[in-house]
Amino acid sequence: MNPVLHTFGSGPPLVFVHGFPLDHRMWKGQLSLADRRRLLLLDLGGFGGSPAPPPPPSIGAYADEVLRGMDLAGLDQAPLCGLSMGGYVLFELWRRARSRISALILCDTRAEADSPEARKARQANMELVRDGRQRDVVDGMLSRLLGAVSLSDPTLVAEVRAMMATMTRAGLLYALEALKDRPDSVGTLGDIEVPVLLVVGVEDAITPPDASESMQRGVPGSRLASIPGAGHLSPLENPGAFNAALLSFLEDFGL
Ligand code: MLT
Repeated sequence: MNPVLHTFGSGPPLVFVHGFPLDHRMWKGQLSLADRRRLLLLDLGGFGGSPAPPPPPSIGAYADEVLRGMDLAGLDQAPLCGLSMGGYVLFELWRRARSRISALILCDTRAEADSPEARKARQANMELVRDGRQRDVVDGMLSRLLGAVSLSDPTLVAEVRAMMATMTRAGLLYALEALKDRPDSVGTLGDIEVPVLLVVGVEDAITPPDASESMQRGVPGSRLASIPGAGHLSPLENPGAFNAALLSFLEDFGL
C-alpha cells in the first residue's frame, strides 16, 4: 500500500515518519526547514484519515510503505526521522533496506519490544475501540503525550486531540496490533553504521529519557539531544530546540 505523501521545499531530502496515533501534522514545527531542505512527510496507512492497510498488521508493512514513499518521491537514499512508532518502523527499515538510509534521527522512541503489561494495555485499548469507545483511547493517551507546559496550552492540546480523532477504527486496530507484536530492536542497535541522532523530551512519560540513554549506549558514536519543556512529542512541543539539534547534526555530518 502507498503512503500519503506531503512534500515541501527543495534541497537535500529529509523524510519524516510520524508516531501513533498521529499523522504528518505532528511535524508542523519542522516545516520552516523547507527553506533549505526537501521535506517528505508521510501518512502511513490508517493514519491521517487514510484507509487502513490490508491485514495482517505489522510494523514491517509500515516500513515497506516508507520505502514505497521514497520510491514515489524518487529518493534512493535520505536521512530518515521517526518519532516513537516512527522509530520502531525505522529500525525495521534498517533491517530490510539499510542502503536507503544515510542517517537516522530517532525521536522519543525505544528499541525494546512491548513488555507483557504494555501488550495487555494494547489489548485493552483494542477492546475499547471494538466497543466504539475510541474517544476513551484518545483521552487516555493525551495527557501522557504532552509535557506540563504543553498541557497548559489549550490550542496545542486541541490540535493533538484533533489529529488523534482523525484515525479510523480500522486504522487504530491495525496499528495497536502491529505495535503489540513488533519485534525487539535492541539487537539491531550495534549494527547501525550511519550517523544517529537520538532526541528526547525531558518530560517524556511514554518513552522516557532513560530509554534514549540506553539506545545511545547501544549505538556506537550516536548523539543524544535532550529537549527541555517537552514531553513525548518533542518536535511539536519545542520546535526551536528540536530543529537546532537536528540542523547541527545534519550539518556536522555533511548530510
Ligand atoms: C507513539 O507515539 O508512536 C506511541 O506512543 C508508541 C507506542 O505506543 O509504543
